[in-house]
Amino acid sequence: MAYNNILTALEDNILVISINRESKLNALTIETLKEIKEAVDEAQANDEVHGMILTGMGDKAFAAGADISEFAHFNTEQATRMSADGHDVMNSIENGNKIVIAAVNGFALGGGCELAMACHLRVASTNAKFGQPEVNLGVPPGYGGTQRLVQLIGKGKAMELLLTGDAIDAQTALTYGLANRVVEQSELMNEAKAMLKKICGKSPSAVNKVIKCVNDYFRPNVNGMQREIYEFGEAFETADFKEGTDAFLNKRKPNFRA
Ligand code: COA
Repeated sequence: MAYNNILTALEDNILVISINRESKLNALTIETLKEIKEAVDEAQANDEVHGMILTGMGDKAFAAGADISEFAHFNTEQATRMSADGHDVMNSIENGNKIVIAAVNGFALGGGCELAMACHLRVASTNAKFGQPEVNLGVPPGYGGTQRLVQLIGKGKAMELLLTGDAIDAQTALTYGLANRVVEQSELMNEAKAMLKKICGKSPSAVNKVIKCVNDYFRPNVNGMQREIYEFGEAFETADFKEGTDAFLNKRKPNFRA
């Protein structure tokens, strides 16, 4: 599919989605987010795609936030719609059945940080900066930042970042648990691909069940323990379970994608 704001490239069963607004530090317009959702949804249904990497074009930004010039004149109705639609995009990444890794190659601010947090893992380059500066604009975060930042780094540190609007560097993000790895920018895509390939070599159905169970920890009125018991039981009648256990017992490597 042709897109106006993103580039997609499928190689070795990995779909790389790159936000392609480098001159605007990959700021996220509504159309950009819509295109990201379309690409992710399409990839979820495409057997050739085993996992995804989300990144930004250039060496300066993953995404420096929602596009301020686009929403500066919105009223409540428009802003509510913008936020709800943004939540749909983030949820479709977070709850999808395939792993999405954010390769954070610079600024991940506001909506950019929220997009990175909706991904399952984050690999950052040494020049990456994470933050939620919305309080400087007179708004709270609107794409899930008040929730996912608390989930990822805890209330104390999240409050501080959300209230001060301060950005943190990659090493601090690593210490906080916001970044899973930090590497030189030249190594960023290699590291993200290596991590993704490792996960893609595991049982896809087990990976999918882990995503569901972990996400249920954060869902109100859902019992994550019960979900785990259910998913564990269901796993026993999958081809992946037969392959994984047979491989172990016969001292060979499992091949889940035969
Ligand atoms: N929305 C719209 N445009 C943005 C943007 C955003 N969130 N972030 C950057 N841009 C644009 C700038 O307006 C500029 O466009 P121009 O060249 O047409 O004037 C271009 O991207 C480059 O940004 P610039 O500010 O010149 O780069 P910098 O290196 O001096 O500063 C930042 C980088 C990230 C510190 C700065 O761009 C910034 O503070 N951005 C907004 C961050 C933010 O508040 N995000 C949350 C939004 S909800």
